Amino acid sequence: MKIPKLQIGSITASIPIVQGGMGVRVSLASLASAVANEGGIGTISSIGLGDPETSKQEYERESREALINEIRKAKKMTDGHLAVNFMGVLSNVNDLIKASIKEDIKMIVFGAGLPTKLPALVQDPSVNLVPIISSARVAELILRTWDKRYERTADGLILEGPLAGGHLGFSEEQLEHPEEYSLEKLLPDVLEVIKTYEDKYGRKIPVITAGGIYNGEDIARMFSIGASGVQMGTRFVCTEECAVSQEFKQAYLDAKKEDIIIIKSPVGMPGRAINNRFLKNLEAKGRLKIKCFFRCLTACHVDKAKYCIALALLNAYAGDVDNGLIFCGQNAYRIHKIVTVKKLIQELLAELKMVPA
Ligand SMILES: Cc1cc2nc3c(=O)[nH]c(=O)nc-3n(C[C@H](O)[C@H](O)[C@H](O)COP(=O)(O)O)c2cc1C
Repeated sequence: MKIPKLQIGSITASIPIVQGGMGVRVSLASLASAVANEGGIGTISSIGLGDPETSKQEYERESREALINEIRKAKKMTDGHLAVNFMGVLSNVNDLIKASIKEDIKMIVFGAGLPTKLPALVQDPSVNLVPIISSARVAELILRTWDKRYERTADGLILEGPLAGGHLGFSEEQLEHPEEYSLEKLLPDVLEVIKTYEDKYGRKIPVITAGGIYNGEDIARMFSIGASGVQMGTRFVCTEECAVSQEFKQAYLDAKKEDIIIIKSPVGMPGRAINNRFLKNLEAKGRLKIKCFFRCLTACHVDKAKYCIALALLNAYAGDVDNGLIFCGQNAYRIHKIVTVKKLIQELLAELKMVPA
């Protein structure tokens, strides 16, 4: 099939691939700019850029400066399209969003929390607002609220299904039956919900699907059911440009299907990760010592938490995988080599072209 472009508000990407925002420090300037240079949309993650074991004030300053630094670095490396990913549960999310806009970021992706007040914070219409959703119900809630309160609609939606990596917008019970919540099942209802708002605002609201999309055939399948583009995370971890340690990438290469499990995150959402020594140790010990001076994630139940997730993700990024949590998508076990972003995207596009229109 012919490679379609992806239009999200004022952004037109020449290929319909968004590299998903990945924390902690997984998708930074080098990865995002490499994807943008291939014509896709590269997403910098704003998550966990400060030291979690410091004061609130210091953490906020550090993470703001680090994010600004990543954005400036990425902009030096590409003229392509860049987005920044935010989680609603971040204690300093509003500050980081404001800092990104000052740095002229034109696409804000918002997940892990309802962005009901986002249009009040981002009033510049040239900044494209893209919430992450996991159901038509959530899409309706966001779009209805934005319409009533701000007379604004979303510039795009990322529909993340149950096979994705990182925190997931599904209950543990739902994740036991991922086929019931497949993108194929979720997308038609989302497309139905957005019709009202597309009609009212006179423009398309592209839905970008995510979670378990592995090759060109998968991408083609998403187009056939009505997606406007895809967001991929896991495959971009095993690229040379991805910022995580070699040990993190090796854990992907070594993982078998049965090693990929659902965990309970201290922030109260399930997540998908590799069942490594860290998780096995945690299972045996029950709880690890936590040094928490403030809650960097507002939803974190520090009193009940079995470990500090910010620190565990940071350890994995830095290469201390035995003390680190390695988030991954359901298909991580299918990856057997580390390639450049260019090679990966060329491969995906070649596969996509081979699919009959
Ligand atoms: C290591 C890792 C970290 C992630 N961290 C985040 C995050 O901080 N915020 C977010 O919205 N999504 C996060 N995700 C989800 C991705 O952005 C993407 O939507 C998802 O992984 C797509 O599924 P796939 O991995 O099967 O391609 C993460 C995914 C991975 C693999």
